[in-house]
Amino acid sequence: MHHIRLDSDTDFDGWRKAARELVLADVAPADVTWTVVGDEPELFDAPAPQAGAGTTPTSSPPGASKQPASSAPAQTFNVPARFVELARTTILHRDPQRFAWLYQLLWRLRANPELMSIATDPDVARLQAMAKAVRRDEHKMHAFVRFREIGREPKSRYVAWFEPEHHIVEAAAPFFARRFADMEWSILTPDACAHWDGHAVAITPGVAKAMAPSEDRLEETWLTYYASIFNPARLKTKAMRAEMPKKYWRNLPEAALIKPLIADAERSAQAMIAADASAPKKPQRQEPPMTKSDHAADSIARLRDEARDCRACDLWKPATQTVFGEGPQRARVMLVGEQPGDKEDLAGHPFVGPAGQMLDRALAEAGIDRAETYVTNAVKHFKFVPRGKIRLHQKPNTSEIKACRQWYERELASVQPQLVVAMGATAAHSVLGKITPINKNRGHLIDRDDGPQLLLTVHPSYLLRLPDADARQREYARFVDDLKLVAAHLKKPHAA
Ligand code: URA
Repeated sequence: MHHIRLDSDTDFDGWRKAARELVLADVAPADVTWTVVGDEPELFDAPAPQAGAGTTPTSSPPGASKQPASSAPAQTFNVPARFVELARTTILHRDPQRFAWLYQLLWRLRANPELMSIATDPDVARLQAMAKAVRRDEHKMHAFVRFREIGREPKSRYVAWFEPEHHIVEAAAPFFARRFADMEWSILTPDACAHWDGHAVAITPGVAKAMAPSEDRLEETWLTYYASIFNPARLKTKAMRAEMPKKYWRNLPEAALIKPLIADAERSAQAMIAADASAPKKPQRQEPPMTKSDHAADSIARLRDEARDCRACDLWKPATQTVFGEGPQRARVMLVGEQPGDKEDLAGHPFVGPAGQMLDRALAEAGIDRAETYVTNAVKHFKFVPRGKIRLHQKPNTSEIKACRQWYERELASVQPQLVVAMGATAAHSVLGKITPINKNRGHLIDRDDGPQLLLTVHPSYLLRLPDADARQREYARFVDDLKLVAAHLKKPHAA
């Protein structure tokens, strides 16, 4: 039997070195146990070696009691890059069996180098699911860490408490270093702590929650911000819990607002129903019949899940998260903007900041219910340059628009809208696949042989940037007129 003791829960190099030696010595998975220093049962305390020293048989030599391998022991063994990538991520999972399962897959790869391509293989599927759980946990950490300010500027430091599900602190730290490059911060967790001094990340052992600060003056800013982006019309408590699981609420300042805001939203909804009681009922929208492509296309929920890990360009690095499109799976109209802004990046929802408020106002004035439309962006990550504590919006370039277009195309295939509204030059570029002037082409629906009808119009943030009030009013009216074409389209009987 071989007992391998790794230096830490995230000791990928130790695992790799030991696994390589074991597989070359033809040691079967059943003949290896894996532990981490500090976690091992007392039985192993005395003789157990460090992984860095390689494999150590404590009761039998390498190769003894091995399972029959379908190939002879080899002196070299080329491991597919996909396996190495999977192992690097999976090793961060909290399941104590992860080292053994990885070794089992490595062992089987020797006989079947194509194994990584067999997604239904139980070993591959289990490890892929574990890697997905780790990546998801990293996303949650990116989104839910809230720093509290300790001390006063210029000597202040930002400290956050977080409880990750997996061993992700070290892997997630570079994200915070990029995102909050100009402040000194520490993220404290029970497993490990990450610290940034403006130059490098340092990792120290985990601490108890009592070490985390509990109050500060940033709290109020968060509360104001959260209340301002909270949209009762789009309140979906189930989805909210899935995105922001209750376990994270206790560390979020805005959690205190969730209950009152939900209660208030229910009251507002009741008031809206009461006010609407005498209004003529809208004809029920008929769902189009299912076509073959309904089955072929991925659902929006699935696409959103896939897009969380998009690395097609570098914009994911400094961004908080992918901001995917939102709306009914069978919306008749798809609104396309440029890219999420600062608020959208933090909230994870499109058009919730100032441009979103402008869009909401114009839609309402044109007689369109935003909840009936699918709202998305040509580029799904926020592009910005940091300026002190502000993040300045940057226009996405052609290669970023192209890299992200796959998501727009898949959203289009999934939702199958009858009409696409491209708002602004970036959206027009993505939708039409080429740079297209807006002003020359706006004011009417454009028929297309290869897709839904199209309306080109300006981006709502263009209206926000206009310096003089007259121009703003005039351009806003033109924008509403464009959207009225959409409203007229929506009033037409549903074409299947
Ligand atoms: N601007 C956009 O284009 N999209 C958003 O989601 C927000 C601002």
